[in-house]
Amino acid sequence: MAMARTTTLLLVAAALLGASCSAWEVNIRMPTSAADVDEAVVAPLIHALRPLLGSGKHAGVECDSWVLGVEAHNVRDWKTVPASCEGYVGHYMLGKHFRRDSKIVIDQALAYVDNLKLAGNGKEVWVFDIDETTLSNLPYYAKHGFGATPFNATSFNAYVREGSAPALPETKRLYNKLRSVGIKPVFLTGRTEDQRAITVTNLRRQGISGWMNLLLKQPGFKGSAVTYKSGERQKLQDAGYVIVGNIGDQWSDILGAPEGARTFKLPDPMYYIG
Ligand SMILES: *[C@@H]1O[C@H](CO)[C@@H](O)[C@H](O)[C@H]1NC(C)=O
Repeated sequence: MAMARTTTLLLVAAALLGASCSAWEVNIRMPTSAADVDEAVVAPLIHALRPLLGSGKHAGVECDSWVLGVEAHNVRDWKTVPASCEGYVGHYMLGKHFRRDSKIVIDQALAYVDNLKLAGNGKEVWVFDIDETTLSNLPYYAKHGFGATPFNATSFNAYVREGSAPALPETKRLYNKLRSVGIKPVFLTGRTEDQRAITVTNLRRQGISGWMNLLLKQPGFKGSAVTYKSGERQKLQDAGYVIVGNIGDQWSDILGAPEGARTFKLPDPMYYIG
């Protein structure tokens, strides 16, 4: 009897070991192509991150950590993307990673909207930032080091004047959803009043219309982005509007009372506005 039980236990142990061995083999499988990382079923690819995502010999994991620090607002007040991360940020922005990260944000925003108990009184608004939130300046940044070279207002403003910035498709999904449920979009941007006409043209060219308000920075304003944007949100609230949501790519879009009932932060590893 005792003998039989021991044999059974050994067999069970052998079966478990066998199972865990094959699971481990799956876990350490190295991807053979970049497409492998997009498969949801792929087991953790910890060892594969560097060669897949890195721009150089050692840059991969370091740049991954740097971007996480930026997104979590632990890394602040930086002027340029670290030179060794230019390639990493470029791959991130141009490949599927940025779109995938943006989709997570927008899916959460859509779920939040679906669960809102709306008053439907025409007073409910959603604040959108413009650059890197509604419109993408990636065509410009792709030619200027993905943020690794110092910001040049002259050349950037020339790009803005073309009015050719593409809409960010994930944000557009949210924008259209909000309009369909009667939440009014309000644009609140660090762009200046003199850029109003080209900004309207650019938004319309991208199929974006029907906003309630387009708030631009007035000439002579000297405060920080947080002061400017929170001040404008306060004015909205004072006028009787309820800010049900607020979305931006910068922490300065979503910090400072009144923030809005819920805030959403889109990824932006290319520049920092404090
Ligand atoms: C900024 O861009 C302008 C226009 O392209 C160029 O003439 C100027 O040299 C640039 N400035 C710097 C510091 O690179």
